[in-house]
Amino acid sequence: MSTWEIAAQAAARAEAGMVVGLGTGRAASGFVRALGARVRGGLAVQGVPTSEATRRLAGSLGIPLVGLDDVRRVDLAVDGADEVDPARDMIKGHGGAMVRERVVATLADRFVILVGPEKVSGRLGILRSVPVEVVPFAVGPARRALRDLGAEVRLRPGPDGAAPFRTDNGNLLLLARFPGIRDAARLHRDIRRIPGVLDSGLFLGMAHEVLVEAAEAPGREAGAR
Ligand code: A5P
Repeated sequence: MSTWEIAAQAAARAEAGMVVGLGTGRAASGFVRALGARVRGGLAVQGVPTSEATRRLAGSLGIPLVGLDDVRRVDLAVDGADEVDPARDMIKGHGGAMVRERVVATLADRFVILVGPEKVSGRLGILRSVPVEVVPFAVGPARRALRDLGAEVRLRPGPDGAAPFRTDNGNLLLLARFPGIRDAARLHRDIRRIPGVLDSGLFLGMAHEVLVEAAEAPGREAGAR
């Protein structure tokens, strides 16, 4: 299945009257476009965007938007991921939206993930670092604490390479590389305990379904990033 086909398959799960969580990133944007096409066709849903970029995209497609002050539950949330293991545990947040993504996914009855085949791995951490959102004041001690947990750590640079990347919440993103994570639940707890840390990109036991695109061509291999 192509990117568009898995996006359309996820959009087909939306039903009239649903509140739909709209993820962030390339795969989630495909879903938002597919959902937008259904809304133009007459489907009545409300979307909860997980980032300002997704808010703009969904708004431009005519998807009615709602905030979490106004709804108690989300019927369906659809998002991308950076790495997925066979248990559907994930690393997310390389787009910097994981705090809002977790809030929306936690409220969702069904959380569907869309990924390319290059994101599927046998063990979390083999492919990607773990993003950690930190309030700017705490970035120095948080970086040291992550190193004490065994990570190689770098600050995610902004688009111009000069200033660091800022999340929609005004925070910084540390990228902590733990190659081959053995106990992801414990690591997530340890990271969350660091003062000034808002969240880690480890999303464990949350996805109900993972839709994987077909490989584009033979020889396309997953590499360490
Ligand atoms: C956003 O913060 C992330 O959690 C994304 O869902 C993740 O980075 C996947 O994004 P892509 O679909 O753009 O690869």
